[in-house]
Amino acid sequence: MIKILFVCTGNICRSPLAEGIIREKFRKNNITGEVDSCGFESFHVGDPPDSRAQEVAGKRGIDLSSHRARLFTVEDFDKFDYIYAMDSSHYDKITRLARNDADMMHVDFMLNVVNPGKNLDVEDPWYHGLKAFEKVYLELDEACDRIVDQIIIGSALK
Ligand code: 4NP
Repeated sequence: MIKILFVCTGNICRSPLAEGIIREKFRKNNITGEVDSCGFESFHVGDPPDSRAQEVAGKRGIDLSSHRARLFTVEDFDKFDYIYAMDSSHYDKITRLARNDADMMHVDFMLNVVNPGKNLDVEDPWYHGLKAFEKVYLELDEACDRIVDQIIIGSALK
């Protein structure tokens, strides 16, 4: 069973959106997996996702309301097969917490699944309006499609 973790700053916008999007794609494609998300700043720990994130997801039939924000922990390296950072600040923080090379083996920038090696950021929509959340949704939707494609191809090769 594949286990994927998405990481952002507050765990109320980008990473819970990615989690909800891929959860729905797993359901549609009959993929059994474990998906979670977390952040690095404690301001919103215990909070549900931002209402704008819930709105752009809800429009597509994805319900984010049960998620509660939590912080990244070193144990997450042991629990997850893939850890996707939304931007370079999260990637750098994850790198600093890594205990060894094995911890970093499955860490990548989220958008590298679409643009390999470019290390592009999913920009923080927090200070912007719904339009920025729509843009984030589309970027994450495309990236999650690629992740699901890779899982399907990988399981077909087994
Ligand atoms: P996220 O967005 O990292 O995509 O959840 C943010 C949410 C809250 C804050 C920053 C980014 N904040 O500064 O409170």
